[in-house]
This record gives sequence, C-alpha cells and structure tokens, in this order.
Amino acid sequence: FQLVSSHTISPVPLPLDTLTDGRSFQATVGAAGRPANRTVVFRGFQEQCDKIQINTDARSNKIGEIREWPLGEICWYFTDSWEQFRISGIIDVIDGSSLDPAKLQQREKAWFASSVKSRSQYLGQSPGVPVANDDHIKDVHIDPSAGPVDAYCLLTLDPEKG
Ligand SMILES: Cc1cc2nc3c(=O)[nH]c(=O)nc-3n(C[C@H](O)[C@H](O)[C@H](O)COP(=O)(O)O)c2cc1C
Repeated sequence: FQLVSSHTISPVPLPLDTLTDGRSFQATVGAAGRPANRTVVFRGFQEQCDKIQINTDARSNKIGEIREWPLGEICWYFTDSWEQFRISGIIDVIDGSSLDPAKLQQREKAWFASSVKSRSQYLGQSPGVPVANDDHIKDVHIDPSAGPVDAYCLLTLDPEKG
C-alpha cells in the first residue's frame, strides 16, 4: 500500500500527527503478489491514535485485495519540502458488516465528517462501471442526517512502530 501526496502541506518537517491538511495520495496494495497503485484522499488520523483513515467504496477491487493481503505502505510526498514519508502497516477494512461496535462508530464518524457531496458518490454506480454522462450523479439525493450507506467503507492503516 503506497500513498504519494500530490498536495503541498508544509515546507518544513512536521510530526505526523500534525499533518491533518493532506488531500490526495497514491496507494498501492499488493494482491496475489502484484502491486496496485491508487490515489486516495487522506481523511485524517483516527482519534487518540495514529491510524490513518481513508474513505472508499466497499464495491471497489481494493477491498478484496486488502482482505487477502492486509499489509500496506503509504508513501507521502510533500512537493515544497521534497520530503517523503513511507509508512508501513496493517490495513483494516471497516464496512457495515463489522461486528465491532467501536469500529462501526468510527465508520459512522468518518461518514459524517465527509461532505454530503462526497457521501452521495456511494449511492452511485459501482466503481469501474463505464458511464455515458453525469446524469446518474444529478439523480442522487442523500439525506444529510442519514448514516453510512452499505457501499461506504472506512479503511484504516495502523503504522508499524519502530
Ligand atoms: C485525486 C484522486 C483522489 C482519489 N481519492 C480516492 C479516495 O479517497 N478513495 C478511493 O477509494 N478512491 C479514490 N480515488 C480513486 C482511486 O485512485 C481508484 O481509482 C479507485 O479507488 C478504484 O480503485 P480499485 O478499483 O483498485 O479499488 C481517487 C482518485 C484520484 C485521482
């Protein structure tokens, strides 16, 4: 799992727990021995720990790949300072089927922390399905007070220590 920032956050080195303004990253997940890169958005650190949160669609290919091989590495590049952070760890897939109430609570919290527009994409077609135009997006209406939909999945990467 490898993430590369395409967004400038700070020109000087900062402790990781202060890097809360990140935007997009590129990730790789090794599945069946093959690396897979993908850009994802940093959604902050989980409260009271240093787990890195990423929102994703439960229908996307990465879910099966991560379940099969949950090890990953984040590579986070800061363009101004030319600094790179590589963070390895275990990725946890937290979807609506989780049996852990604390994880379900984290998922709900992350859901409400994202914009209504961002949430509405989980009501759209499955990722990877070709679309003719943007009409399917206009037709999607989401209740801002409604909790996470089935397709919404929270990923957390727990950095390896030392
Ligand atoms: C700027 C940018 C940001 C993205 N952010 C996310 C994200 O936060 N979560 C996500 O699942 N996919 C995100 N994507 C799409 C992924 O890179 C990827 O194409 C998608 O998740 C499907 O991957 P998969 O089929 O390998 O699972 C982003 C793409 C771009 C270009």
